Amino acid sequence: MTFPISRPRRLRKSESLRRLVRETRLHPSNLIYPLFVSEIINEAAPIKSMPGIYNYPLKDIAGKADEAFKLGIPAVLLFGTPAKKDSTGSMSLKADGIIQKAVSEIKTHNPEIVVITDVCLCGYTDHGHCGIVKDNEVDNDATLEILACQAVSHANAGADIVAPSDMMDGRVGAIRSALDENGFTDTIIMAYSAKYCSAFYGPFRDAVDSAPQFGDRQTYQMDPANAIEALKEIELDLAEGADIVMVKPALSYLDIIAAARSEFAVPVAAYNVSGEYSMVKVAAQNNLADEKRLTLEILNSIKRAGADIIITYHALDAARWLG
Ligand code: PBG
Repeated sequence: MTFPISRPRRLRKSESLRRLVRETRLHPSNLIYPLFVSEIINEAAPIKSMPGIYNYPLKDIAGKADEAFKLGIPAVLLFGTPAKKDSTGSMSLKADGIIQKAVSEIKTHNPEIVVITDVCLCGYTDHGHCGIVKDNEVDNDATLEILACQAVSHANAGADIVAPSDMMDGRVGAIRSALDENGFTDTIIMAYSAKYCSAFYGPFRDAVDSAPQFGDRQTYQMDPANAIEALKEIELDLAEGADIVMVKPALSYLDIIAAARSEFAVPVAAYNVSGEYSMVKVAAQNNLADEKRLTLEILNSIKRAGADIIITYHALDAARWLG
C-alpha cells in the first residue's frame, strides 16, 4: 500500500503517539560511568581535554560512584594513575595499589555498586604501551602473565568485573584460568574484544598520561578498516571465556556493534570514548549544538545499533535527562 492510503506521519502526530511506537529506549540501567582515580593528587583535578570530567583522589571515589548509583547507573569502570610508572607496570599489581584501594573503598561504602576495573598496563608503564616491551616490540606472551596477575589482584580487592583493554592475543583465556585457579570463578570478564586503533582516544591518554612514548598501538589494536576481523576477535574472546564483549569506539563503529549483536548470544557493550565525548562538549561550549539533544541522539544511535550496555562519560547527565 502506498500514498495516500499509507501515511507514516499519522504515527508522529503527538508526543504520546510517538512514545507509543518508539523502538529504542534509553535507560540509566544500561549505562556504565568511567571514573579516574589518581594516587598523585589530593583534590579533584579537572581533565583539560575532557570538560566536566575529573581525576579523583582516593578519598572522593566512593562518593562519586555512589552519585552515579543514586542516579540509577548500576556500574562504574575504574582507571588508575599510580604514584610512579616503570617498564613493567609493577605498581598495577600491588595489593595496596590505587585501583585495589579504590575498589575496596567503593565496595565497602556500597556493595551494590557493580565495580569494573580496566585491566591493562599502559597507565602504569613508563613507555606507555599496553604490554611488556622487548627490543622495541610489545611482547604478547610475556604480557599475559602480568595481566592475569593484575586481574586476580583486582578480583581480590573486590572487583565484580575485570575488563582487559590491552588487545594481546590469548589474554582472556589467561585471565579466566588465573581467576579460576585463585577461586574467583564468579568474577566476570568484559573483554574489549573489538578495540580499534583510534584517534578518538586522544583525550583519555591525556587524562591518564598513557600516550605511547615511541611508536603507536597499530601492532595490537585493530585496523579501523576491518569488520570481519572484529567478529573473529569476538569469537576468540568468547571461546576463551569472555562473559560480555565490547566494541570500542562506538560512533564510527556502529556497523560492528550491529554485527556483534546479531552474531553472538552474549551482552554487547559499546564504549562511547573520550574523543566522542569531548567533540560534543566542545561543540556545545561553542553554541554549535544543543548538548542534551546531541548526546541523547548519539546514545540512541548506539543502542539502536544493538548495544546492550553503553560506557559513557555522559552517563550522569544522561541519567538526569532521562530521569
Ligand atoms: C587502555 C585504555 C584506553 C581507553 C580505555 N582503556 C586507551 C588506549 O587504548 O589508548 C580509551 C578510553 C577513551 O578514550 O575514552 N588501554
